[in-house]
Parts: sequence; C-alpha cells; structure tokens
Amino acid sequence: MTNYTPKQFKLKDGTEIEVREMKDVDLELSLDFFKTINEEERLYLRMDVTKRENVKKRIQQMKSGLVHRLVATYKDKIIADGALELSQHGWEEHVGEMRIIIADYFQRKGLGMIMARELYYLAASAKLEEIVVRMMRTQDAAKNIFRKLGFHEEVLLPDHVKDLTGKSQDLIIMRCYMKELWQELEDYFSDMRMHR
Ligand SMILES: CC(C)(COP(=O)(O)OP(=O)(O)OC[C@H]1O[C@@H](n2cnc3c(N)ncnc32)[C@H](O)[C@@H]1OP(=O)(O)O)[C@@H](O)C(=O)NCCC(=O)NCCS
Repeated sequence: MTNYTPKQFKLKDGTEIEVREMKDVDLELSLDFFKTINEEERLYLRMDVTKRENVKKRIQQMKSGLVHRLVATYKDKIIADGALELSQHGWEEHVGEMRIIIADYFQRKGLGMIMARELYYLAASAKLEEIVVRMMRTQDAAKNIFRKLGFHEEVLLPDHVKDLTGKSQDLIIMRCYMKELWQELEDYFSDMRMHR
C-alpha cells in the first residue's frame, strides 16, 4: 500500500473521474470492471480476469508491497486499473513494470495518460530509474500510447507468450527512463492545458 491521495480529473470529453488506490473491498467492483473489457483485449491479459479467484489474487498481491495498484472510478464504478510492479530481484531493483487497462467506453479520452502519470508519481517515490512495459505484438493501442510516452521497443521475443486461448504470440518489451517519461508527460499535459 502507498500513501496515494485520491485525485479528481476531467477527461477530454468533460467526464469527471477519480483516481484512487485499489482497496481490499474492491473485488466485486473489479470483477464488474473486467466484464466491461472486450473479449479481444481480455485475451492479452496475463490471467483470466473473469475468474473471481484470479481477481482476488490481483488484489492480494498488493500486500507484498511489490505491486501498487490504482483504479479510476466514475459514479462508484471502476473504469480503469493501473499497476506498478516492483522487482524482488536485487539486480532489477531500479526497474518497475507498468500495466494499464481502460474500460472500452472510456478509451481515447486521455485516461490512459492520466493513469500513466499517476503511476509515474508512485515510481518516483519508489526511486525507480527505469520503467518497462510488456505486451503482445498485436496490441497496437498499447504500443501507441507507450511510444507517445517516450518508450522504445527494446526486445521482441517471437512466440514467447500465449494468449488466453493458448495461441502463441510475440512478446514486445519496451522501456523508458524516468526522466524521459516525465518529459513526455509534462509536454502532453501542458499541451492539453493550452488547448482547453
Ligand atoms: C492502451 C490503452 C491503455 C490506452 O488507453 P486510453 O485511455 O485509450 O489512452 P489515451 O486516451 O490516454 O491515449 C493517449 C494516446 O495513446 C495513443 N492511443 C491510444 N489508443 C490508441 C488506439 N486505439 N490507436 C492508436 N493510438 C492510440 C494515441 O496517441 C493517444 O493520443 P490521442 O488520443 O491524443 O491521439 C487502452 O487502449 C487499453 O486499456 N487497452 C487494453 C489493455 C492494454 O493493452 N494495456 C496496455 C498494456 S499494459
């Protein structure tokens, strides 16, 4: 758990949402959220999030202190989930992994960038130097948002992972130094303010 203070934001279409830390009691809300994710995007997730025990496990992982999880809410429903995973290996202690999922209806409204910025703050307080993201090669939206955030594709491992149907997929690992990520976030949000 972190000391993250809940924050309110306005999306590009004016919708007001809140970002807060995920709580133990969010199991039902989280299951409802995953039901709103379309099947194609769910295939790319690391576990089957339609299963209660898996969603429970995700929430319990936070107790290790190695996983920080934020959610965005709208009218008491979860509409986005973002995680910062820290490494338990000494040689990777300066590296964190970021994961973001936005409910279909709320995509392309700037929420992914908001979640990335909030996770950046958590990464900065954990004194990380570098962030990595992992995705399957076919995840175009994911590649685009992380490119926009200054991430570079570093590794492509052919047929390295299997999606939830069991089909082999190429894995891409992208990474970004904290300084570069902050620069991209600053540019994006100051540009947004100018165009409001
Ligand atoms: C990837 C994802 C997190 C993006 O979230 P989002 O809230 O839609 O992203 P934003 O609205 O903040 O978009 C920021 C920028 O990313 C890029 N982008 C996002 N979605 C895109 C898409 N479908 N196609 C092309 N570019 C896209 C654009 O450059 C966009 O800026 P613009 O809208 O001003 O052009 C979302 O599509 C998602 O949850 N996908 C499923 C899970 C996933 O793949 N997660 C990432 C791997 S961990």
